[in-house]
Amino acid sequence: MKVAVVGATGLVGSEILTVLAERNFPVTELIPVASEKSKGKEIEFKGKKYKVVTPAEAIAMKPQVALFSAGGDTSTEFAPLYAEAGITVVDNSSAWRMDPTKKLVVPEVNGDVLTIEDKIIANPNCSTIQMVVVLKPLHQQYKIKRVVVSTYQSVTGTGVKAVTQLMDERAGKEGEKAYPYPIDLNVIPHIDVFQENGYTKEEMKMIKETNKIMGDDSIRVTATTVRIPVMGGHSESVNIEFEHDFDVAHVRRLLAEQEGVIVVDDPANLKYPMPKDAHGKDEVLVGRIRRDESQDKTLNLWVVADNLRKGAATNAVQIAELLNKRGMI
Ligand SMILES: NC(=O)c1ccc[n+]([C@@H]2O[C@H](COP(=O)([O-])OP(=O)(O)OC[C@H]3O[C@@H](n4cnc5c(N)ncnc54)[C@H](OP(=O)(O)O)[C@@H]3O)[C@@H](O)[C@H]2O)c1
Repeated sequence: MKVAVVGATGLVGSEILTVLAERNFPVTELIPVASEKSKGKEIEFKGKKYKVVTPAEAIAMKPQVALFSAGGDTSTEFAPLYAEAGITVVDNSSAWRMDPTKKLVVPEVNGDVLTIEDKIIANPNCSTIQMVVVLKPLHQQYKIKRVVVSTYQSVTGTGVKAVTQLMDERAGKEGEKAYPYPIDLNVIPHIDVFQENGYTKEEMKMIKETNKIMGDDSIRVTATTVRIPVMGGHSESVNIEFEHDFDVAHVRRLLAEQEGVIVVDDPANLKYPMPKDAHGKDEVLVGRIRRDESQDKTLNLWVVADNLRKGAATNAVQIAELLNKRGMI
């Protein structure tokens, strides 16, 4: 299969290349795509070198599927042109996620919504993906009423420029800034732009995308999203109030049985999920599983995943695998 990776020189794009190779996605020809400034650069994939082309040039090369991670503007401009040319797009940006005509997909949660008609498929926000994978089996069993989530997000979620800012600050070097404040030895309670209601766009994404993916607008969600000087993955403190009561041991079992989830929950032996452990993994790690003793039928969890993997690249490749398996590409 001819596969285009749009944004191949970026953090998510390079992770997509790794995941495609690792999972043996049947790529017969790779088309690495980036901006005009990277045109002609060589990208290695499975021992072969490919030259980077621009998004417009890639359309003429007729890939069957294009995995986009080149920002919202590139997706808004080019995804419809790819779709018109018969190329199925899996898009990592936020451009199409809340469009009612587009599916927002996490394969383990709502992969069944995909049909042959879907030509632009949205990959959810990284913080949302890792949370809904954990919420799904719990909602099925106990019906979720409300979720309160606070995030501790890795600088890799902002892209190459943010990783460089953190490294420059550590080395005492001046350089380009991705954030309005120093990130090293700091915590910034601000991810994406502020909205009129005082929330950030990242927080509103977590709220709206959760309802769309879970297919249930009755789940109330509130979020505070925070950037921390960490690489390797995003962490989340998730407080969940249910309609029905639960047994903590049963919750642990449900989570252990959920596809894509690993339970790491052994406080006696100091075992709990951390970004260092999630780094490079495709699964979502969950631990600190305990009852919220301040309120009935309420649970506390700590959820960690590699935002570049399950939060972006792995989820996008899993969508492509699903489309391939069902003969849709
Ligand atoms: N990082 C995450 O955890 C994460 C998670 C989920 C979704 N996403 C989304 O994925 C996208 C990329 O994120 P990232 O972290 O990989 O950013 P990044 O490291 O800054 O990479 C951006 C990529 O987009 C390409 N690009 C930029 N402008 C372009 C244009 N006009 N035409 C073609 N290509 C262009 C860049 O190519 P050049 O090298 O040529 O500039 C580069 O390959 C964003 O939409 C982001 O919201 C990121």
